[in-house]
Amino acid sequence: MTKKILVPRGTADILPAEIVHWQKLESTSRDIFRLYGYQEIRTPIFEETGLFARSLGQTSDVVQKQMLNLSSLKEDSGSSNASSTPDEGLSLRPEATAAIVRSYIQNDFDRKESLSKFYYIGPMFRGERPQKGRLRQFHQIGLEAIGPNSSLPFLDAEVISLAVHLLNSFGIQGFQLKINSLGTPEDKKNFSLHLRDLLQRNLSRLCPDCQKRFERNVFRILDCKNETCRSVVGELNLKEPFLSDESRKYFEEVKTALTIAGVSFEVSPLLVRGLDYYTHTVFEVSHSGLGSQDALGAGGRYNGLVQELGGNDVAAIGFALGMERILLARQALERGPAPMDDSFTAGPSLDVFIISLDKEGEEKAFLSAFKLLQEIRSQGKSAQMSYAPASMKSQMRLADKLGARRVIIIGEDELKENSITFKDMLQGIQSKVALDRIGEVLKNDR
Ligand code: HAM
Repeated sequence: MTKKILVPRGTADILPAEIVHWQKLESTSRDIFRLYGYQEIRTPIFEETGLFARSLGQTSDVVQKQMLNLSSLKEDSGSSNASSTPDEGLSLRPEATAAIVRSYIQNDFDRKESLSKFYYIGPMFRGERPQKGRLRQFHQIGLEAIGPNSSLPFLDAEVISLAVHLLNSFGIQGFQLKINSLGTPEDKKNFSLHLRDLLQRNLSRLCPDCQKRFERNVFRILDCKNETCRSVVGELNLKEPFLSDESRKYFEEVKTALTIAGVSFEVSPLLVRGLDYYTHTVFEVSHSGLGSQDALGAGGRYNGLVQELGGNDVAAIGFALGMERILLARQALERGPAPMDDSFTAGPSLDVFIISLDKEGEEKAFLSAFKLLQEIRSQGKSAQMSYAPASMKSQMRLADKLGARRVIIIGEDELKENSITFKDMLQGIQSKVALDRIGEVLKNDR
């Protein structure tokens, strides 16, 4: 037998039975984003590799290990320089923030508005080792708020409370919100020097990955999952973020604003995030029902990124929630994959199913049914019929399975009388209707 081709590892089909849950997450998100004044943006799913390398950081795990390059596509830069660096070429987007900042700069948004509020829903790609909750193609719902002078503590609080609002609306309970502040780039540098000092004497106890991180990206040691690394970090007894007075004041205001907004949070000085672009407020929402990949979503401020990518000095903040993880958390709560209202639990429904019954070898009823099928659909009603000849009983069974509210029967008698039999499946009432009146009857039918 020929070998079957399967879906690539770390990716998944979203089948029709599950799609309603995805659509519900999407429509709920769109409604909530509208309440806060966010508008949708769609950027390409691949970008120049250098965009991600410059934004997320050369030493981040995503850039080091997880970029999926499109080797057959090379950006036509028009340059005659044939030498290539690892930053060149195109890659599938591992996240959306860098691409949205690229678009913000390219489209001169800072000249058009003082605060741009974007949201996005779509697939992201990371060459990860797949496991539960960790995929190579996954989906995020996220937002980015970007604008000159938008470094405002109340905006941080609003963005965080929007993430909480979304999770509550998805029916997720029992999630934990952790926040921290990394301060300015200078604060980050001072903190990394301080950390190196503290960790130096225990360097040999750290796992091989963390020994490399010590030089390249010391913050990542703080969120290493290795038991020994965790106890080394525990011994550091970090209680407060390592901040300048000004950054500390900003963070205090964010906390006050969050408290006013009624959002519960915990301050965690160990929350450092894996992407380089963050400054000041960072946050993560986790759920214990998810196992080792417990982050439902995360985000933070990235005030330097617009300038770093060639734009003006413009502040920004955003977050992304992982859709697969939201659905997994729903399952862990034994509520099914997503909160459902009636319109989503009702399953597929069909306005009309047409049954045609011809004598063997004839197809008059079939042709008349096929013509009527198109007419009903052009009126904006959903309609189906069986294209394979079948008995009345099996066609009725199919109508039932498809959730048909009405059935139209065209058989020998109906053809003779130029009529159809119209059956209301909900009330079980049946009547004959002249063929030329069917449009009118359907129009008044609700
Ligand atoms: P991130 O922490 O890399 O942040 O991803 C955000 C969320 O996406 C994670 O908390 C998780 O729920 C989901 N996620 C990430 N990787 C995977 C994966 N391999 N499989 C399944 N789910 C995954 C960002 O992406 C930033 N761009 C967020 C942000 C926006 N910061 C500022 N603005």
